[in-house]
Amino acid sequence: MEIDRKKFIDSLGGEERVSRMDPEARADALESHMMAELNKPKFIPANVGRENGKKYPTTAEVEAQIETRKYRDGVGFMFVPRDGENVKRLTPMPANATLYDFFKLRFMDTANHVLQSAALAMRNGMSEEIILACLLHDVVQEIIRTDHGWWGAQLFEPYVPEKVSFAIRYHQTLRYFPDPSVGYEYPDLYRQLFGSDYVPPPYIQETYKMVRKHPWYMDARLVTLNDLYAFDPKAEVSIEPFADIIGRHFKQPKEGLGNDGSPVAHMWRTIARPDQPL
Ligand SMILES: [Fe+2]
Ligand SMILES: [Fe+2]
Repeated sequence: MEIDRKKFIDSLGGEERVSRMDPEARADALESHMMAELNKPKFIPANVGRENGKKYPTTAEVEAQIETRKYRDGVGFMFVPRDGENVKRLTPMPANATLYDFFKLRFMDTANHVLQSAALAMRNGMSEEIILACLLHDVVQEIIRTDHGWWGAQLFEPYVPEKVSFAIRYHQTLRYFPDPSVGYEYPDLYRQLFGSDYVPPPYIQETYKMVRKHPWYMDARLVTLNDLYAFDPKAEVSIEPFADIIGRHFKQPKEGLGNDGSPVAHMWRTIARPDQPL
């Protein structure tokens, strides 16, 4: 990883201050700086922090942005960095890769968001299944963003309780529909992202009607409620508080994710080796 020397030194209080640090303190500071850079949630569209009062785009304006991009917006974060920088060489995955390895070495742009959502779900006293669904709900956006609820549920289906994959699949649909009974409102971010006059397509409307009547509706709904966009890039996030829940509900294959011959093993291999052309 490349370090912006000036930025790093400024973050430590300038050249003079750094020259007074002992080598160990300097090495520690460098390590924390690198971790912070790696974990920066690039996942947030740059326009989330827009000033109040600025109007939301219309769907026509959102559509007009398409041809200003070098890529399609549904492509996953690991394939196309949104900061315009070159991609970085990835650390190879261990042979028997676990969910932890993927969090540590591949979910660079989504880990911060899902860990914050899971931490919120835990603070709010959600069930273990909902906490786990929050922890996993968006990581598939590393490879694909279009219909990420369905892709995400598929990625995890062989390894988690059915209720967890249900909640992951349908959180995407439910995000478009308010539910005042639990205090869930249509996200401002969506007005920015899809346009102020956006109407979800028919398959989303139909899915909503089905899920609304489903006995597990509230499980998926509670994922949307703890799915937060109030990102704090400086928040200390760690997967450690969720180790027991993962241990109890995530069936880690002993051969490693991607080597287990499951119907979705190829998806894990794709995340593990995204530079493989064929
Ligand atoms: Fe999502
Ligand atoms: Fe999310």
